[in-house]
Amino acid sequence: MPEHESGDSIPHLSGYREAELDQAFAAISREVEASSAALATPEAVEAFRLQWLGRKQGRLKAISDAWLKSAPVEAKKLIGQRFNTLKAEIEQRLEHAEASTGSSALDSEAIDITLPGTRRKLGAEHPLIRTQNELIAIFARMGYSVGIGPEVETDYYNFESLNFPPGHPARDTQDTLVVSGQERKPLRDRLLMRTHTSPVQIHTMEEQPPPIRIVIPGKVHRNDAADATHSPIFHQLEGLCVDTNITFADLKGTLDHAMKELFGSSVRTRFFPSFFPFTEPSADVQISCPFCGGSGCRKCKYSGWIELLGCGMVDPSVFGFVQQKQPAYDPKKISGFAFGMGIDRIAMMKYGIGDVSLMYSGDLRFLEQFA
Ligand code: DAH
Repeated sequence: MPEHESGDSIPHLSGYREAELDQAFAAISREVEASSAALATPEAVEAFRLQWLGRKQGRLKAISDAWLKSAPVEAKKLIGQRFNTLKAEIEQRLEHAEASTGSSALDSEAIDITLPGTRRKLGAEHPLIRTQNELIAIFARMGYSVGIGPEVETDYYNFESLNFPPGHPARDTQDTLVVSGQERKPLRDRLLMRTHTSPVQIHTMEEQPPPIRIVIPGKVHRNDAADATHSPIFHQLEGLCVDTNITFADLKGTLDHAMKELFGSSVRTRFFPSFFPFTEPSADVQISCPFCGGSGCRKCKYSGWIELLGCGMVDPSVFGFVQQKQPAYDPKKISGFAFGMGIDRIAMMKYGIGDVSLMYSGDLRFLEQFA
């Protein structure tokens, strides 16, 4: 046990001048030095700690009580400074002693490295993300890069610059969710939830001159009632290729190859005339039913074909909008094609998912099947 009982052997201060204080603290400091000189065992170190730093019985506490608390206000600062230096000195000696006897407080918390670790369950890629990544990889192998764009768009990017003029009937087919309270803004600046990924075509072209080969995956929103095949939030993959001498044959070859990569090399494609305001000519693409090979089954409604995406040659008037920022998109010099597909539909086909809402349910029993 400590030689000093608390308080009883704290000498009285002879005065509060600096020289007197220095002398008094120096005497204590010599005591600290002496009592820390031969600390050879963890027990001795602990005794030293208690002797000086013990909360109730410690000598430092006694010094504080005897010298600091009762000191006149003018002297408190001078004593306080010396007190802090003394405390730091004690702590330093304690640390040294702990280190050299291996009695650090950390010892009691030491980890048994032979125990097995805590296992964390590995997550699995969501089927939507997996499908999205597969599609991106297919196009990356053909030299496409990946872009993204905002989910909240202006009317200009979602519609006008894609050649849907105000009041155009094709706007109605998109069941747009608009941000409220925008009536005082000009129509082109009003905000809405993008109804397709096509506006990112415009952003991309405004940012970089041709040539461009890019795919753009992302979330889109429509005011659709949810059922087994519709969700008000779904995902699309947009594609855009612009260069000199790009033709419809390039479009057909690219998409035919992509579908073969996605569903297997025996899959065939066919193109039907269609309409999109931002492409001319436009086409819908069907693939031969990957479930029955084209002979007809329930999945393809006994037609042997499944419609999967829209595409077309970029309409010159779209280049016209882009030229306001990037003059290099001169439709006399360059041409391009674009396409858009629903990632959810493709994921459902690839993984045999019967209800789109499962992909948005967060139900682990569903997700664990993809682990
Ligand atoms: N944006 C169209 C839609 O959501 C899909 C689409 C069709 C995109 C043709 C294209 C395209 O880039 O060329 O219905």
